[in-house]
Amino acid sequence: MENRQWMIDEILRMKKEKNAVILAHNYQIPEIQDIADFVGDSLGLSQVAGKTEADVIVFCGVHFMAETASIISPNKKVLIPDLEAGCSLASSITGEQVAEWKKQHPDAVVVSYINTTADVKAQSDYCVTSSNAVKVVEAIPADKKILFLPDKFLGSYAKTVTGRDMEIWDGACHVHEKIGNLELDKAKEKHPKAEILIHPECGCSTSCMVKSLQFGGDEDIKIFSTEGMINHVENSESDEFLIATEVGILHRMKKANPTKEFHPASEESVCEYMKMITLENLYSALKEEQYEVKVPEELAERAKLPIQRMLEIV
Ligand code: 13P
Ligand code: SF4
Repeated sequence: MENRQWMIDEILRMKKEKNAVILAHNYQIPEIQDIADFVGDSLGLSQVAGKTEADVIVFCGVHFMAETASIISPNKKVLIPDLEAGCSLASSITGEQVAEWKKQHPDAVVVSYINTTADVKAQSDYCVTSSNAVKVVEAIPADKKILFLPDKFLGSYAKTVTGRDMEIWDGACHVHEKIGNLELDKAKEKHPKAEILIHPECGCSTSCMVKSLQFGGDEDIKIFSTEGMINHVENSESDEFLIATEVGILHRMKKANPTKEFHPASEESVCEYMKMITLENLYSALKEEQYEVKVPEELAERAKLPIQRMLEIV
């Protein structure tokens, strides 16, 4: 314990000395969330990365998030404590595959989820996050066909809400895909009074949304990004919630709302990539200034355009 406190103090000292900022995603382990300067969703983290005055950004999240920070803030040193912290969704499509898809639909507009590599972003017209996909799609001229990638659940959610002519890539996150109808139904039986909050990457998001939006079904089912969920539980009058996303988010919810009750839709919804960031490798990242994530200048310039277009809309 003494050693842990020493490590925390050292992280804080080095952070000051190097003018660094620690950004953490909502799925990070509690220790990392607690030491971070900012905890948020993909959108919030990229906005902070774009505005920070720090010289060094230590990104406690997955690789595409650190890459996005480097694209937005090319003059900052962006560090990720473990280079192996990847994302199954971002790995489901390459830049070459996007180029090939575009050839088949030359007049279409390419909309990419932020969970993509810089190569994929560089081939895209717009980026979206889970909190703004619908808003960005709605801002695209109505006569345009849209190629949406890579998440099929977020894509079909955006397609159902907007009614747009949309082709959707067959990609999914291995954690959220498993949160399908069955598990959710079981959890609902166990906690009948709980409000149900669902991340749009979940395997059940489209069917639940169709139920709640189109058939006047269950009004207690709501689709949110991770930050949308955090805001909702804080402002809602309900005091019990069923959370369908990665379990790391429950720490922040419980901390901010100690009198409310939170249940994960599935205890098994754990992203092993997000959990690769630890206090130990955060300490080493600051001490050794490792591992730098730097997107080559020409690629970064092309990848920045769809992110900027998104940030102008939201
Ligand atoms: P958010 O943008 O909602 O934080 O989601 C990012 C992510 O990786 C979800 O799995
Ligand atoms: Fe990627 Fe899924 Fe992990 Fe999010 S939860 S970072 S989408 S693998």
